[in-house]
Amino acid sequence: MEKEKIVVLDFGGQYTQLIARCIREAGVYSEIYPAHTPAEKFADGSLKGVVLSGGPDSVYAPGAKRLRPDVLALGLPVLGICYGMQELCCQLGGQVAAPESREYGPTPITFGAHPLFRGIDAQTVWMNHNDQVMALPDGFVSIARTANCPAAAFADNGRKIYGVQFHPEVTHGQMGAKLFYNFCRELCGCEGSWRVEDLAGQLVAEIKEKAGGKKIICGLSGGVDSSVAAVLAHRAVGDDLTCIFVDHGLLRKNEAEEVMGFYGGSLGMKIVKVDAAALFLGRLQGVTDPEQKRKIIGEEFIRVFEQKAAELGGADYLVQGTIYPDVVESGAGESAVIKSHHNVGGLPEDISFRGLIEPLRLFFKDEVRRLGESLGIPHQLVWRQPFPGPGLAIRVIGEITEEKLRIVRETDQILRDEIAAAHLDEKIWQYFTVMTGVQTVGVMGDGRTYEYVVAVRAVTSDDAMTSSFAEIPYPILAKISSRMVNEVQGCSRVVYDITSKPPATIEWE
Ligand code: XMP
Repeated sequence: MEKEKIVVLDFGGQYTQLIARCIREAGVYSEIYPAHTPAEKFADGSLKGVVLSGGPDSVYAPGAKRLRPDVLALGLPVLGICYGMQELCCQLGGQVAAPESREYGPTPITFGAHPLFRGIDAQTVWMNHNDQVMALPDGFVSIARTANCPAAAFADNGRKIYGVQFHPEVTHGQMGAKLFYNFCRELCGCEGSWRVEDLAGQLVAEIKEKAGGKKIICGLSGGVDSSVAAVLAHRAVGDDLTCIFVDHGLLRKNEAEEVMGFYGGSLGMKIVKVDAAALFLGRLQGVTDPEQKRKIIGEEFIRVFEQKAAELGGADYLVQGTIYPDVVESGAGESAVIKSHHNVGGLPEDISFRGLIEPLRLFFKDEVRRLGESLGIPHQLVWRQPFPGPGLAIRVIGEITEEKLRIVRETDQILRDEIAAAHLDEKIWQYFTVMTGVQTVGVMGDGRTYEYVVAVRAVTSDDAMTSSFAEIPYPILAKISSRMVNEVQGCSRVVYDITSKPPATIEWE
């Protein structure tokens, strides 16, 4: 059990995970639970406060998610964000309604003198709401105002109940971090000594307890998540662990050799490579729907692991590098399912393993990287850009063919070369090409061409939850484009994706 913990109740907001991250950044362990969870499920001796997330409903809508009275009855500090604030207002006898003009995006604000805002000098906040607090419940005072919202934040200092109409988690790099720090440290009285780096021993012990003396296999993808999961499992069971690297025919150029090189080196784990390209590509033939691609790939991975495990004389557990955003984005919380990440939502129901071991299920990517560094995993591996399990299948839009895979691989290699040559590789979170499947007219030599459009996607991010397109200098983009069109047969046009997440996602499928 953690020494101190703050729970986030999820009312269906798209930014709920960011709230949990901000709290962890303040040094306090935080977990997300669905809004209707009874208090007894999370209220142990370590609980120091509760945060209520935003959500898409109006508090008066039929079926709107309610805050359970047993949560308030705990008597702990509570912070409601957007819908969470409105729900507190409504439950405690105030009034919520839609104002004449709604606020969306950066909005000027005036903060009152309150411990929640100590040290914050920001003058704008991020708003996204239809309703707002119109009449305060008894015992509450307004502690911040905007032009349209006289109670942009409120507080009942006696009962330690607070609400903010804006979304501090969305601007967590700026005022958000400070606001959550103030809530955790000043208002909930937390010490704030939680650090993911200190957890390696505990995670290893948990794996040992569950699977000590048993045979384990681990699916390695070459990314940081599965590598860290494998190293933890290796510390727990040593040579009872066999790692399996599946070449599903959807890897980037030279990826299989590169990855095997990493693992064969300093990590000292048993590793087997399986060539399953024909199997995966066969099953994906004619499939165009992204969710179906993920489901097929998720299932085939498990089948390959099962078969390999049988060849190795059987295995009881499968280790996976599932991380917290995979769990939450695949619909474990209250928010809408955006993509069923292949290693969560895409798993078949009839798995022949006794169970899964997912030591990173509760961690965010940057936490996994810190854990990886603390375990002594090589820097190059810890900081590799994320590569999705379904690989190029979700970077070839629509039907996957050998020709499209060749074009996406060749163009991706050029992009990687040029980003590395410009020393941008550790500044950009992810950069890759997408085979759009669209053909357009061009002119090359003196003739007409009718070939494919390739999109370049490059984003900056902290956690893949939100991202902005990377501002790659024009001369570098120009070189990338000209090399792709000149060197890769079948690509006659290159476009740069300039959307952020939200509203887009990082991958195109
Ligand atoms: P999106 O596209 O949802 O991606 O903004 C967020 C992060 O997740 C990766 N991603 C996946 N990883 N299986 C994975 O293992 C998947 O099905 C999957 N889909 C997206 C994506 O590369 C980005 O880092």
